[in-house]
Amino acid sequence: MTSSPSFPENRPVLQVGATGLLGSLVLQELLARGKKVRALVRPGSDASKLPKVVEVVRGDLLDPASLQRAATDVSAIVTTAIGYSQRKEGDSLRTDREGNRNLVDAAKQARVPRFVLLSILACDQAPGVPHFWTKKETEDYLGQKGVPFVSLRPGAFLYAPEGGFGQMIRQGLERGQVFGMTPEGIRITYIAPREVARAIALAVDEPRALGQKIDLGSDRPLSGPEYAELLGKLLSRPMQVASMQGAGRSSSDDMLAMFRFFQTGKYVADTHRQAELFGPVPKIEDAARQMLAELGLLPR
Ligand SMILES: NC(=O)c1ccc[n+]([C@@H]2O[C@H](COP(=O)([O-])OP(=O)(O)OC[C@H]3O[C@@H](n4cnc5c(N)ncnc54)[C@H](OP(=O)(O)O)[C@@H]3O)[C@@H](O)[C@H]2O)c1
Repeated sequence: MTSSPSFPENRPVLQVGATGLLGSLVLQELLARGKKVRALVRPGSDASKLPKVVEVVRGDLLDPASLQRAATDVSAIVTTAIGYSQRKEGDSLRTDREGNRNLVDAAKQARVPRFVLLSILACDQAPGVPHFWTKKETEDYLGQKGVPFVSLRPGAFLYAPEGGFGQMIRQGLERGQVFGMTPEGIRITYIAPREVARAIALAVDEPRALGQKIDLGSDRPLSGPEYAELLGKLLSRPMQVASMQGAGRSSSDDMLAMFRFFQTGKYVADTHRQAELFGPVPKIEDAARQMLAELGLLPR
């Protein structure tokens, strides 16, 4: 860079994925911490709900030139963007593979001081789950390119997405049924998206986080029956574990591979580093209560 660099804290954070479900929470957390935010939004995507203080730049992970422009003179890059959620026709894992590589290349080129990747818990142990493995590949690529990075690896989100899936969760709970993803004795880690967003915003400038891959979770993992019991307690009514088979029939091979991976018992966070860097690890009860409130089943 030939121009004199300004202090990182005066430069914006480049956020990729700000229009997403989690991405919008990350944006709120960054702004609440006084960060300036430049949001990379795809041409044609709706940026009108982003707060006015946000600088919107148009670009696409699959358009390298747009990334180089967006990454110029930023203090950090934060990305939660994915193609596998298929928000738009044509979205695919290409975004997660090629798009993330493009973003790492842009970070390298612009000498961005920090790249915060939202990864996935135990991604490096799941070569058979494509959307997990692309996160591991991106982590590796960051290392190969020598881009200073933090990788955050959360467990399964306890959230209430809008649309069909959220409705399915709510209707299940109203019938006394919980979609438990593992049988008795096999536990997985769950976490509230708000907590993930908080950790991402802190990871932008927490010095001790640099170069680390950090698991994120709640205070303890749960089996399917334990999860049902917890929700039953919070809702004061008995809950049964519903079979995932119905959901499985409409799932992609990638999602089915993920459900199989959950059965290995490896999807469990070690939260020691999370506690050291980001403060006390929240209780699973709080995460579940938050989800039930968002579903309108408990008061906010
Ligand atoms: N759900 C879980 O249990 C779980 C567990 C662990 C980790 N995670 C991670 O959590 C994150 C979920 O984020 P989310 O809820 O915000 O996802 P989301 O709602 O599906 O949003 C995806 C975001 O990526 C953007 N995007 C997609 N393709 C793009 C491209 N080619 N160029 C630029 N931006 C692009 C979308 O923008 P548009 O508005 O243009 O579509 C949108 O902002 C992911 O990183 C996921 O891997 C999830």
